[in-house]
Amino acid sequence: MTTLTIAFTLNGVPTSVAIDPADRLLDTLRYTLALTGTKEGCGEGECGACTVYLDGLPVNSCLVPTYQVRGRRVETVEALDPRALAPFERAGATQCGACTPGVVMTAMWVRAHRELLTTHTIRELMAGNLCRCTGYDGIVDSIQTVLGERV
Ligand code: FES
Ligand code: FES
Repeated sequence: MTTLTIAFTLNGVPTSVAIDPADRLLDTLRYTLALTGTKEGCGEGECGACTVYLDGLPVNSCLVPTYQVRGRRVETVEALDPRALAPFERAGATQCGACTPGVVMTAMWVRAHRELLTTHTIRELMAGNLCRCTGYDGIVDSIQTVLGERV
């Protein structure tokens, strides 16, 4: 197997990792770096379960070749304040939990860019995060709570 070593910043920490050029960021995070909070749902960019931040923007890590993060900044759900999850637990917005890390990552990004809510609804901003369990009402309620809380 051909390997190359890349360096990037992961959750604020300078990180170096040996990868195969074909590796997906999702797999590097989960299997090489043991950050299993990021989940795989569809594996093809449809569900948002694998959402991480790349240079501060939410991306589907199943679609990002790991070599493309060389020299860049990646943040995963492990970097979030655990209190960010509390509103979701209280509102029953997580059932099987497969979507939850991605939902919370997007929700916290919306919280940090709340000016977008002047032109978009929460449901529109969360459209890239699918949930097969909850029917979305609890997720939307939780995000409204997150938007009003200091987390
Ligand atoms: S697993 Fe990446 S978008 Fe579904
Ligand atoms: S809680 Fe199961 S997919 Fe969302």
